[in-house]
Amino acid sequence: MNNQDIINEIRKKTDIVDIIGEKIPLEKRGKNYFGVCPFHDDTNPSMSVSREKQIYTCFSCHATGNVFTFLMNYEHKEFNQVLSDLAKRLGITLNGFKAKEMPSKYKDWYDIYDIANKFYQNNLMSREGTDARNYLEKRNIDQETIKEFNLGFSLKDHDTLTKLLVKKGYSLDLLNKVGLTSNDYDIYHNRLMFPLHDLTGRVIGFSGRIITPGKQNKYLNTKETELFKKGRLLYHYHIAKEAARISKSIIIMEGFMDIIRASTIGVKNTVATMGTALTKEHIKDIRRLSNNIILCFDGDAPGIKATLSAGEAFKEEGIETKVIELSGDDDPDTYILKNGGAAFKTLINNAIYFSDFKIKNISSNYNFTSSEDKANYIHEVMKEIIDIDDPVRIEIVLKDLAKKFEIGYNTLEKSFQEQKAKNSKENIKKDIIIPVKQPQQEKKDKYQKATLAIIYYMLNKQEIIDLVESKHLVFPTGSLRALESEIVYFYHKYGFINEADFYTYLAPKQELISILSEVMSLDLNSNITKEDIMDYINVIKEYNLKNEIKRLEQKINETTDQTLQIKYAEEIRKLRIGES
Ligand code: UTP
Ligand code: MN
Repeated sequence: MNNQDIINEIRKKTDIVDIIGEKIPLEKRGKNYFGVCPFHDDTNPSMSVSREKQIYTCFSCHATGNVFTFLMNYEHKEFNQVLSDLAKRLGITLNGFKAKEMPSKYKDWYDIYDIANKFYQNNLMSREGTDARNYLEKRNIDQETIKEFNLGFSLKDHDTLTKLLVKKGYSLDLLNKVGLTSNDYDIYHNRLMFPLHDLTGRVIGFSGRIITPGKQNKYLNTKETELFKKGRLLYHYHIAKEAARISKSIIIMEGFMDIIRASTIGVKNTVATMGTALTKEHIKDIRRLSNNIILCFDGDAPGIKATLSAGEAFKEEGIETKVIELSGDDDPDTYILKNGGAAFKTLINNAIYFSDFKIKNISSNYNFTSSEDKANYIHEVMKEIIDIDDPVRIEIVLKDLAKKFEIGYNTLEKSFQEQKAKNSKENIKKDIIIPVKQPQQEKKDKYQKATLAIIYYMLNKQEIIDLVESKHLVFPTGSLRALESEIVYFYHKYGFINEADFYTYLAPKQELISILSEVMSLDLNSNITKEDIMDYINVIKEYNLKNEIKRLEQKINETTDQTLQIKYAEEIRKLRIGES
């Protein structure tokens, strides 16, 4: 079997409905399944999954593809990884099989970061890395951990890395662009280097930490590039993916060193932002790992502030996180060093609900001297627990309040129910006012509809391929022609064609994928006659004819040579009567 055969085989034996259904709830409607699309912000079931065609399509964000692309995007994995996961699931051994790497626009970038990464790691182990190694030793980071996190060191001199990369043939322009060089000089000097990985585990930048205190910033991060966006990066995500699946939870920390320390005690389901607040993208990517999210920030005031804002951000997305509280001057790193791994694991197991954390912290805003102040506090606490479904938790909080302020439990309970009723009324009102977003439908002309329909039917009914071939239909644009010839090629080579397999085959040709995606999101009538297809073919031929005539007329206008003009006019006449 060749590569594409193996890929097709694995695709055929896997049911996309089962796979997607394991990640997001699907509901059957007609012959398709519907669920909330995980690839854009939504609460409506705008993603349709077809068992018959083995493809998915989102009517709102237009994401579309087969089981491979779904898993690649959903789990942030490379094609080869997804393929081997599915093979494993099916009990198929791949015997070292590797699909061809998808060519990437950023191949040089990734290669440069890989070279730099190895360069930094070598430096750390060299004589020049002595200070950095001593620094790590002082911080109790052992050899194994250095390896695991690919820690490195940038040299004191000015341009060794730049020179090395230039020697390997990369232009200074590119080296500036990827953020490793500035005006012939290395960006990083004398810093402990942390490679930064994207969600799939490729190095896309670095953060360098000073090893001797000074005036410079503690960390120097790669500038934002086309690949590296601070608001998107989650340190350690590519490792945490698997760990979170096993432990069914994900812990968010503040610093690299916290993540690294936790890893040394076997806690690897951790991610960190780069010292920034959580963005919507961060939240989305974290949710993909687990809905059981634990915040473990520094114990100081900024850490508490960060916990409150992260907890709120998740709450807005309908998730109540848990919180691990550290005391004043601790972060996870120092806590583990002082108290050991077992103590930290106990903290994880005893993480409190975000609402409880918040209630505790709200109280510092009140001084409880006036009855008004007390009442305001009580109402704020109630507001905090209004969304909690668990009546036991509600009762515990209300009983605590009753005891603390010497108020009857029944009074509090009554007031809570009133507030809840009022709240849900407001929510209903809000629901009515918020307009439901309708997916945008672009208007397509008759000709565009015909081309897309023909491609659709070529992929769904193989006899149409023969028909299109026998009628010598020529699509007018280069990319449509390329797509058509790829369809014909695939069909003749493998003896069959369908959207799901053809999609994988075509994936390296990104410029064609976008047309194919558009075709895949069509849901055309499968009871189509040869005559219907002929109508489409004629629409396209007519369009081609019009264009050809226009082209010739333009040529007539552009030339003063009368013989040429006569020649073109004759060609136009022939085209009009259908002779040529
Ligand atoms: P921390 O100061 O908590 O860093 O900042 P840390 O990782 O715990 O480092 P140690 O323990 O002092 O060695 C948290 C995160 O904020 C970002 C880094 O991503 C860091 O891990 N940060 C911090 C910067 O980007 N620049 C800075 O100058 C400082
Ligand atoms: Mn720290």
